Amino acid sequence: MLKEIYQPNPEFSANAAIKNMDEYNALMDKAKEDYEGFWKSFADEKIDWFKPYTKVLDESNAPFVRWFEGGKLNVAYQCVDRHIEKRKNKAAIIFEGDRGDKQVITYLELYYNVNRFANLLKEDFGVKKGDRVVIYMPMIPEAAYAMLACARIGAIHSIVFGGFSAEALRDRIEDAEAKVVITADGAYRKEKPYMLKPVVDEALSHGNSPVQKVLVVERNNEDVEWVAGRDYSYNELIKSKAAKCDPEPMDSEDPLFLLYTSGSTGKPKGVQHNQAGYILWAQMTMEWVFDVKENDTYWCTADIGWITGHTYIVYGPLAMGATTVMFEGVITYPDAGRPWKMVEEYKINQFYTAPTAIRVLHKTGENEPNNYDISSLKVLGTVGEPIDPPAWKWYYEVVGQSKCAIVDTYWQTETGGHIVSPLPGATPIKPACATLPLPGIMAEILDPQTGAKVGAGESGYMCITRPWPSQIRGVWGDPERFKKSYFGDVKKDGVPVYFTGDGANYDENGYITITGRTDDVINVSGHRMGTAEVEAAIKKHPNVAEVAVVGKPHEIKGEGIFAYVVLKSDNSVADEVEEVKAINKVIQKEIGNIAICDDIVFAPGLPKTRSGKIMRRILRAIAKSEAVTQDISTLEDPSVVEKIENMIKCKC
Ligand code: WTA
Repeated sequence: MLKEIYQPNPEFSANAAIKNMDEYNALMDKAKEDYEGFWKSFADEKIDWFKPYTKVLDESNAPFVRWFEGGKLNVAYQCVDRHIEKRKNKAAIIFEGDRGDKQVITYLELYYNVNRFANLLKEDFGVKKGDRVVIYMPMIPEAAYAMLACARIGAIHSIVFGGFSAEALRDRIEDAEAKVVITADGAYRKEKPYMLKPVVDEALSHGNSPVQKVLVVERNNEDVEWVAGRDYSYNELIKSKAAKCDPEPMDSEDPLFLLYTSGSTGKPKGVQHNQAGYILWAQMTMEWVFDVKENDTYWCTADIGWITGHTYIVYGPLAMGATTVMFEGVITYPDAGRPWKMVEEYKINQFYTAPTAIRVLHKTGENEPNNYDISSLKVLGTVGEPIDPPAWKWYYEVVGQSKCAIVDTYWQTETGGHIVSPLPGATPIKPACATLPLPGIMAEILDPQTGAKVGAGESGYMCITRPWPSQIRGVWGDPERFKKSYFGDVKKDGVPVYFTGDGANYDENGYITITGRTDDVINVSGHRMGTAEVEAAIKKHPNVAEVAVVGKPHEIKGEGIFAYVVLKSDNSVADEVEEVKAINKVIQKEIGNIAICDDIVFAPGLPKTRSGKIMRRILRAIAKSEAVTQDISTLEDPSVVEKIENMIKCKC
């Protein structure tokens, strides 16, 4: 069946960075003919090098690759200093607080703030090039200053999303051996203060922490504990800092940041991104995919704790000298008109959010966009999970008023930036479809067995067959895990290629639709959650003997978490509701609210092969109330399947 195709808006295309498919194809051809020449031309044009590089790409130690070897640059200089000459009074960041408080930070102010912050880290905390700094912050401008201050002095930041618990924070601090944590007392959500500093205190409370100093931005001025000699107020220390700190010349392949993400084991991976390749692609994709012009205002609603916040709130927009909006609050508060009110007020031109947010805004405020003048919008983006056609249509017709391009951007923490996405002035779009690889990205859907590219109408594994500048450089402290996680599953012409972990298919036009993860990672509200991570947390409950976690489709969140729990003590539960609460409490403590289960069922056992492997496919089918079609005769105890099915039927 041929699905609807929407052509780009011709008025928009006329001024777009990439204006039509001929231009797209020409770029792709150039990349195919002369891959290194393609990247060299952009690296030379886009990056302000302190010292030129000598080699574009070194694959001699693949899959460990090196880009722009020999070059020196500084990412904070690329994002801030170099704009001062032409844009010193331009808004770099427009901040709106939860309670409606506003702040506009110009490039010159950003420059001073980052310099002062960098001096503080250096002088007061002794932070040096290569040191790890954990940032556990709300969505306030100081979070961006902190990132850029680290980049300025060559420290490696590792941001931990503010919704993670003390345990999760501690794991990440310890794995990265961070010597400093930057946090805030707390911030505001739905007009009420919430706290972060106490979580840091708890994370550091077990002794033996590598953390020597904690910097606290006082945002909500609620009472917090101060540990003498360890905790310092940013608001106090910053006052005496000089507004000039020379940017550290960094090698192209020095690490820029770590960002922990879920994989298929219980322990999150510290995804490492390096300097030049990352910032180059962040900037290029901002220009191509969002088509941001000099006078535009761009808003991405993500949190800086995720890769989207890194690349498309801070690094990408600032590298290109754009105005980026930062929002502390909740998108549906005080009502589902909040984002459209902000679009009207700031005359936002590009709006980027997750399908979960689109579904909530659609469901709770279908007509809200019509109450505001949102005619400034030109490009609407979506990211993080597959978007369903009804949500896409509402976004296109009601928010975009059938004139905006929708860019369904497919990418990952590991890819650093967009991989497959429409170009708003060029690509004819199709509902809920990520369309085509971006120029320069050799993304292909491969057959996992043969490594051959699959044909039209066929599904396979979403792979990237050539290295690209912003690709993950390593898993912190674990090179073997890096190889095994990404280069183990699919081989093309006998050579291991990067596998994203996602399944995908081509349509008759070669358009790519991402169908979701093929591994044990589930996508809850666009947040990656490893089933093994949730299982490890649940196992900490003293009464739990065994557990298996699967994803289950959820109307708003995309996927919800469904846990099958086998209890010790012959599975008798005195009070199921209480037991469910107790298990969720453990999850809250170990990971945070984002991993709380939507369903917990107490099963008599789990379907396992004779070698003890849990058959998650069976459990996924049961969770979705689908018939179990797999052969269950090889199970250790086939009767367990029927028992679980009956149990779930009784519940419904
Ligand atoms: C999923 C977020 C469908 C995918 C940037 C991927 C998507 C995981 C899309 C990465 C999309 C991201 N359509 N699925 N447009 N974008 N995904 O690392 O499963 O938090 O592997 O990065 O989100 O999640 P991560």
